[in-house]
This record gives sequence, C-alpha cells and structure tokens, in this order.
Amino acid sequence: MAAKITSIKGMRDLFGAQLRSWRRMESVFSTLCLRRGYSEIRTPYLEATELFVRVLGEHTAVVGKEMYSFVDKKGLPLSLRPEGTASIVRAYIEAGLPYDSPHARFFYMGPMFRYEQPQKGRQRQFHQFGVELFGLASPAADVEVIALAHNFWRELGLTENISLLLNSVGCGDCRPAYIKALQAALQAVRDRLCADCKERILTNPLRVFDCKKPNCQAEFEHLPKIIDHNCDACRSHFGEVKRGLEALSIRYRLDPLLVRGLDYYTRTAFEWRAEGLGSQDALAGGGRYDRLVAELGGPQTPAIGFALGCERLLIALETAGSSAPASSASIDILPLDPESQFLALKLQAELLGATSYTVTVNVSGASLKTQLKQASKNAAQFVVIIGETERRSGEAMVKTMATGEQKSVAIQDLTRFFPLLG
Ligand code: HAM
Repeated sequence: MAAKITSIKGMRDLFGAQLRSWRRMESVFSTLCLRRGYSEIRTPYLEATELFVRVLGEHTAVVGKEMYSFVDKKGLPLSLRPEGTASIVRAYIEAGLPYDSPHARFFYMGPMFRYEQPQKGRQRQFHQFGVELFGLASPAADVEVIALAHNFWRELGLTENISLLLNSVGCGDCRPAYIKALQAALQAVRDRLCADCKERILTNPLRVFDCKKPNCQAEFEHLPKIIDHNCDACRSHFGEVKRGLEALSIRYRLDPLLVRGLDYYTRTAFEWRAEGLGSQDALAGGGRYDRLVAELGGPQTPAIGFALGCERLLIALETAGSSAPASSASIDILPLDPESQFLALKLQAELLGATSYTVTVNVSGASLKTQLKQASKNAAQFVVIIGETERRSGEAMVKTMATGEQKSVAIQDLTRFFPLLG
C-alpha cells in the first residue's frame, strides 16, 4: 500500500457534527453583524511581513516566535496572517475609506496562522470571527462592540461559565510615564524573573505580563498597575465604558494585569474567558487601537474591535451542551433500479424546490435492505422507496423512520405531501 500523507501538525480537517456547529456559528455571527450595520471584509491570507512587525510589535510573541514567514520567488518577505486587525487596517487605508466614510464597521471570519505548540484549543491554523469599528472615539463605541460579542454568546446559548475581563491600558499621553515606573519596578525584581522577562524589561516592558510562568506571575501582583497611571481623559473614558456596560446589564470583572499580547492597544482592553477550555481559556479578546491607522499612514482615526477563536468557541459550546443539533428534516429517496434512479433525481429537484427538507438520493444500486440501513445511519426522517412496481402504479412508498409507519403516496403528490408534514 502506498504511504499515506497526513495533515500538518496543528492544522485540522473539519467535517461532520463539528462543521455543522461551525456553520451555525458562522450564520449566527454574520446575521448578527449585518443587522447591526457591519459589512463583511475579506483580506488575503498573505501579507508583507513588515505589516505584522509594525502593527503587532517586534517584541510580541506572535511576531518574535509564531509567524509563518518566508521569502517569495522575487525575494519579498511575506507572512501568513497571524490575526485579522493588521490586514483590515491596511485595507481600510489602502481603499481610501478613512477619507470618504470615516465611520466604518467591518466583520470578518477566516483562518489565521501561528506557529504555537498545539494543544486543546490551540492550533497552528485556527479561525477567528471578528469585528473592527473605525472612526468613533466615544465610550459608547466600546460598549457597542462588547455588547455585540455578548449578544453573540447569548444567541448561541452560552450564558453561563463565561466571564468578561476589562482593563484600560492608557494612551500615548499617560503610558510613557507608566512604562518608566514599570521598568524601574522590574529592575528591582530582575533576578527573580525568567530570561525572556529580563530581556523584555529593556525591549518592551509591558510584554512581561504575557509571561505565564508561575514565578514571574507571582512578581506581577506587586508591580505598578497601568490602570493606576491612566490620565484623566483615559480614566473618564473608562468610567463611561463601565457605566455603559452596567446600563446594558453586561457583567464584567476588572483585571489590572490584562494588557493583551499585541502592542497596538490603547485605553479599553478586554477578554472573555470560558470554562472548559483548560489553560487556553481566552475565548475572545480585543480593545481600542486609536493610534494604529495613523501609524500605518492613514489620518488620525480611532478604532476598536475584537476577535474570537472558533475552535475554542466550539469547545465552550460542547462543554455548555449547546452544540448544533443534527438536521432532522431530511428525506432519503431509495431507488431500486436504474430507471428509478433517474426518476428519483427528478423528484429530488422537485422536493428541494417545494420543501425545506434536505433531500438525498441513494444512487448506490444496493439492495433495499442495505439502502434502508444507510438511510438510518444518515438519520433520515423519511425514506421514499421507488422501484419498478411503484413506477408502474405511480405510487411511492413513504416510510417514517422513527415509527416504521409506511404509506403509499402518489408520486405526483409527493411535493404536496411533505410540506403538509413539515
Ligand atoms: P488575540 O487575543 O491574539 O487577538 O486572538 C483572539 C482570539 O483568537 C483568542 O482569544 C483565541 O480565542 C483565538 N486564538 C489565538 N491564537 C490561537 C491559536 N493558536 N489557536 C486557537 N485559537 C487561537 C487578536 O487576534 C486581535 N486581532 C483581536 C482584535 C481585533 N483586537 C482588536 N480587534
């Protein structure tokens, strides 16, 4: 036997029940976004490496260790996108949108790539759904984006075992003084930190908080907190965000150590954690990034967004017992000879047009017994049996699989018979 080729580590195939849940998530998410005025955006999976280096930050784990980067045949450094925000900001500026439609709402769904150690809820190709809202600086915009995600969880039936963590990571005015205070405090405990954190003290001190090592985490409790260094404008913005969330009865928990793993955030930063995800419990995350559009060559434009991990959402839904039910409204047509197969295909088209049932035709040519076995494996609700006798009499046999009840129905009446049942 020829050697088998397997999928790449950390990259998975999706089918069956998982894909059914996935499609349900996609459909709920896109409807929810479209009905709130967000339009879909699709950007290429490959971008110039420089885009991610500039947007996410050179010293972040994503850029430093996790990107799939290569040089193309012309020598251009390219990378598979590790997240969506950078590409969407690039596309927004490139299309000239900040100039003619300063308020823009986008949503997106698609694969992202990070070279991480695969484990439950963590893959090298994973998928995100997200939104990005441009041009609005008001705290109400933060509340709008957080409420959108909140409503998505609710529509999927995920109401318990999920928590929203909130912080304010300051702005260009107040962060430099905080970074200085943080650097000084880190220097004082330098010896107790891991090698990566020691390096970050000089390169990008805020990134120490991304370290998950227990020894380092124990030190973080005592470090100065960014929220205590917020300027008046940031403090007032954050106060309004919290008031808005309370007005919408969205529960949150303040987490002064939440700084998110990417460099572009300003002011509001947030993350949802879900039970059942083990150590990879960040279900979604986002925040404001008011400087990014200008840093990438556009006009000064405030922005905010979030993204959620689809694989993690699937696990959270399974844990909460809220996976998509198998579609039960289905008819399998079982033709017993070649002539009946053609008639069955014609009937399939008619039934698909007249009803909302899933209709499949068994064209295997197998015996009735085998076809019935296959139909029950497919969880068909009804089967329609057509053989030579049925063609002659013009009456098909319709069997209700759950009860075993059989009924003769005129073939020409089938398109009226099923809608009456449904
Ligand atoms: P992020 O926190 O890096 O943010 O990723 C968002 C979500 O993607 C995470 O909460 C997690 O559910 C999922 N995720 C990340 N890495 C993996 C992985 N290796 N395997 C499975 N799931 C993963 C961003 O990407 C920002 N662009 C979010 C944002 C949008 N901020 C503003 N706008």
